[in-house]
Amino acid sequence: MSRRSPLVTVMVNAAYKAARGLARDFGEVEQLQVSRKGPADFVSSADHKAEETLVEELRRARPNFGFLLEEGGTVAGSDSSNRWIIDPLDGTTNFLHGVPHFAISIGLERDGKMFAGVVYDPLRDEMFTAEAGGGAYLNSRRLRVSARDQMSEALIATGMPFKGRESHPEYPAMLEAVTGSAAGVRRFGSAALDLCYVAAGRYDGFWEFALSPWDIAGGLVILREAGAMVSDVAGGDTMMETGDILASNGRLHEDLRRLLAEAAK
Ligand code: IPD
Ligand code: CA
Ligand code: CA
Repeated sequence: MSRRSPLVTVMVNAAYKAARGLARDFGEVEQLQVSRKGPADFVSSADHKAEETLVEELRRARPNFGFLLEEGGTVAGSDSSNRWIIDPLDGTTNFLHGVPHFAISIGLERDGKMFAGVVYDPLRDEMFTAEAGGGAYLNSRRLRVSARDQMSEALIATGMPFKGRESHPEYPAMLEAVTGSAAGVRRFGSAALDLCYVAAGRYDGFWEFALSPWDIAGGLVILREAGAMVSDVAGGDTMMETGDILASNGRLHEDLRRLLAEAAK
């Protein structure tokens, strides 16, 4: 049984509160007022309401921390070493199409490094949490990555480039290579949950290009605390800057990295 730290408790409570509105709005998804932010990147009033709730709750508990918000941008805090990085609704396309797979993601960056993460799937009531050095949890259960070491048995997730995000011409060859080597490939449409599913041992690996810091921030700590290996697709450490990410159970990391690199040649 996990005993959540005061910090993680603050994050969890904020996520629960924002999730109530999201779950309600999901039920009424057809009546939502939707506006376009860019190609395939819709933003709904649900995003904004959820973000406002998160900011309100987190600010009440930690008044001096800054924010990096998907919808609201950067908000400086008087405490320059702590910053919340928030995606109030990861899986917007799913949400707007009535596909029940989306999450809230909150990361806490401390002195330039990700320190704590909470990702909440309100429809399944799955709360993924981690704080550096304290382990990763799904609700009260301790998380550990899978032990699979054969690519032929591995379930690999990905995010495909979509309209407005076509900057990776090598992607189709990569997808083909992984599809031909792994037991299966999935594209569920919420990067934050994809990362948590690697942490939980559901997926054995995941890769995607050009994500935003708020897609990754919460999941990074959860992955590391579950024993995952995380790098960019080239094997480096630029995930938060480039948004390129390769996460795995560790045992399959090099195989997957090589498969992607060779396909890109
Ligand atoms: C998106 C999701 C999706 C990923 C996209 C993200 P959003 O976030 O995480 O899985 O493929 O790159 O932008 O727009 O739903 O918050
Ligand atoms: Ca997102
Ligand atoms: Ca979002």
